[in-house]
Amino acid sequence: MMGNTSIKEFTNNWDTELVAAFQLFNQYTQRLEEAYNQLQGRVKEIDREMAYTNARLKDKVQELDSLTKYLNSLLSSIHSGVIAVNLKGEVSTFNKAAENILKLNTSDVMGKKVDTVFKDSDGSTSLLLQALEKGKNCRDVERKIETNQGVLKCVESSVSLIRDANENTIGAVEVFRDLSEIRELEMRLRNADKLAAIGTMAACVAHEIRNPLNGIEGFSALLARDFEDSDPRKKLVKNIIQGTKNLNKTVTELLLFARPIRLRLKNASISEILDKTLFFVIEDMKKKGINNVTIRKEYHLGMDVIRCDSETLQQAFLNLFLNAIQSMTCGGDLTVFTRISEDDEQGNIQIGIRDTGMGIKKEVVHKIFDPFFTTKQEGTGLGLAIVNKIIEAHHGKIFVESMEDKGTTFYINLPGNFNFDIDVFTDVYQKNEILTPQFI
Ligand SMILES: Nc1ncnc2c1ncn2[C@@H]1O[C@H](COP(=O)(O)OP(=O)(O)OP(=O)(O)O)[C@@H](O)[C@H]1O
Ligand SMILES: [Mg+2]
Repeated sequence: MMGNTSIKEFTNNWDTELVAAFQLFNQYTQRLEEAYNQLQGRVKEIDREMAYTNARLKDKVQELDSLTKYLNSLLSSIHSGVIAVNLKGEVSTFNKAAENILKLNTSDVMGKKVDTVFKDSDGSTSLLLQALEKGKNCRDVERKIETNQGVLKCVESSVSLIRDANENTIGAVEVFRDLSEIRELEMRLRNADKLAAIGTMAACVAHEIRNPLNGIEGFSALLARDFEDSDPRKKLVKNIIQGTKNLNKTVTELLLFARPIRLRLKNASISEILDKTLFFVIEDMKKKGINNVTIRKEYHLGMDVIRCDSETLQQAFLNLFLNAIQSMTCGGDLTVFTRISEDDEQGNIQIGIRDTGMGIKKEVVHKIFDPFFTTKQEGTGLGLAIVNKIIEAHHGKIFVESMEDKGTTFYINLPGNFNFDIDVFTDVYQKNEILTPQFI
């Protein structure tokens, strides 16, 4: 009995404890479920926040990307050269205009020390490196720089230090523009003034010298008649006559040079004019026994006909060919090419005359178009001055690229008279020909 009662009690207690335990379990499960639901809600919230942040980040990246593109296109569309360097002086930005002015490719200069890319012609340190060293900006400094191909350029530069958000210097940027063309135009204007002065002087000289010269020549001729052929004085008088003739010739040449050029304009083919001139050049080479110069022709025949004075142009080309041949005393190649000028969409013709001769010294290259500048013993120094005058009369331009001991190229840009549709020239072709005088 006793035992039965205690089992019942035990069973009653057990029920109650079990119920309590279940209740507790239920409570915990509920709390766990609530906590889980809360956690899920939070996860969703975080997901939303992250999606929002990602979207904003994506917007920012896009914004940054388009800003970079915008800045890059801004950099490449401005006409001034822009070069930036880091603290080590290594190039980090090099825009399109810098490429054009310095005739270098961005890929070739990025990461290189700026003073190995181009130098100041007087050997002084690059303005960028000076600014980094001194911690100072500079403005509108005009100087001559030399590309590593040896081409001299006159540029005006301003340099500013680049700073980060904490005002620490992290590099320097140079903005520069090419003044070479302006300075060259100014020089040509001065030359034009000089030419005008020479013209006036030549006219006076011709007047003052020619009349007495004619008198001397006339009287000498009369005197010569009075002497027998065997008389040694007759020879002396003949020398006087020859001298007056030479002097007359020089005066006439000077007048020819000083006289304003009057062009007789007609439509003419540039390649034909060049060929005619080359014919004379080759004849002259044969006469002088020059047999170590090869003449190459690379004509672009698409836009070949322009309005010009072919005879006067022949005279200009002849002077350039003669200079080229005279520069190749040990032989070489004379290349004549024509092409459509790169910097003019109008279709200007560019004629190039390239030699592999001695080249022109950097110190004198700016003087070669000056009348009477010569480095030759027998030269008058009028050749290029005349060429310049003829090209200018045609509203053209002439410029030179030269490297000592490597050779010289003269470029002549002449305006074309292309009033017709550019599509007509779709069958443009290149005709390369090597012209060798028979005896080579
Ligand atoms: N192709 C060239 N290669 C090297 N130097 C050149 C070349 N063309 C011109 N020069 C330099 O320019 C100078 C001037 O040339 P320019 O033709 O005006 O006169 P020149 O040839 O000396 O005399 P000339 O009156 O007989 O032509 C030359 O003396 C020479 O130093
Ligand atoms: Mg000459």
